[in-house]
Amino acid sequence: MSLPHVIVLATGKGGAGKSTLARALAAHWLAARHKPALVDADPQASISSFHDPDGLMKAITLMADPEVATVRQTILDLSQGHRPVIVDTAGFRNQTTIMAAICADLILIPLKAAAEDFREAIAMYDLVQELNQTPEREGRPLSALMVLTMTTPGTVIARHVRKELETAGYPLLTAEVTQRVAYPELSMRGLSPSIVDPDGAAARDIAQLAAEITKRVGGAHVKAA
Ligand SMILES: Nc1ncnc2c1ncn2[C@@H]1O[C@H](COP(=O)(O)OP(=O)(O)OP(=O)(O)O)[C@@H](O)[C@H]1O
Ligand SMILES: [Mg+2]
Repeated sequence: MSLPHVIVLATGKGGAGKSTLARALAAHWLAARHKPALVDADPQASISSFHDPDGLMKAITLMADPEVATVRQTILDLSQGHRPVIVDTAGFRNQTTIMAAICADLILIPLKAAAEDFREAIAMYDLVQELNQTPEREGRPLSALMVLTMTTPGTVIARHVRKELETAGYPLLTAEVTQRVAYPELSMRGLSPSIVDPDGAAARDIAQLAAEITKRVGGAHVKAA
């Protein structure tokens, strides 16, 4: 399968790792010589406020647009010259997120191994299935994939959450975003591991995740609506 064109990071749970992952994936695909763009659709503007237009990730086009009236056009405009367009959204449900989701190829739902994240990830997955019933998406359903973030490998809680989701048939990626200090350290400068330390462990995590996304996108392994 191919690299998705528009990827929207979304969950109604704040602090699940959306912005970190949006930036990390953009950095990965930049390093892999694709032409990613970022849309900061979060009114808190966390990606835009730390982005350094002269820094190592300056080749990534970044647009801040948290407005429900315009976000869709912003994404469509960027998708003319960029792939993937990665959209970061608010840490709570809002209309801008829904508007962005409607024009996505993939909704990526990050969750920590914790009860609130689990509940909100399922709510977001269910919302995607509702969007798939709308005329906008008829015949071309959105894909949704969940990904565990900030995990400590081998912990009981992470295994438990994975088992619960898999048993219930939710599409959870095998790759995880491990808890690593590199993410918060680099985010202060708007940077990400794949650019700063491409051979490091965090960059390897993200490369695995990106490869799995590319392989699974398109619906073949995604739970049907
Ligand atoms: N894999 C990771 N390892 C360590 N820290 C991480 C990891 N992912 C995210 N963090 C840290 O966790 C915090 C929350 O992450 P982030 O801001 O990406 O979440 P978010 O879902 O975008 O939050 P919000 O809903 O507020 O926008 C940040 O301080 C970030 O640096
Ligand atoms: Mg955020």
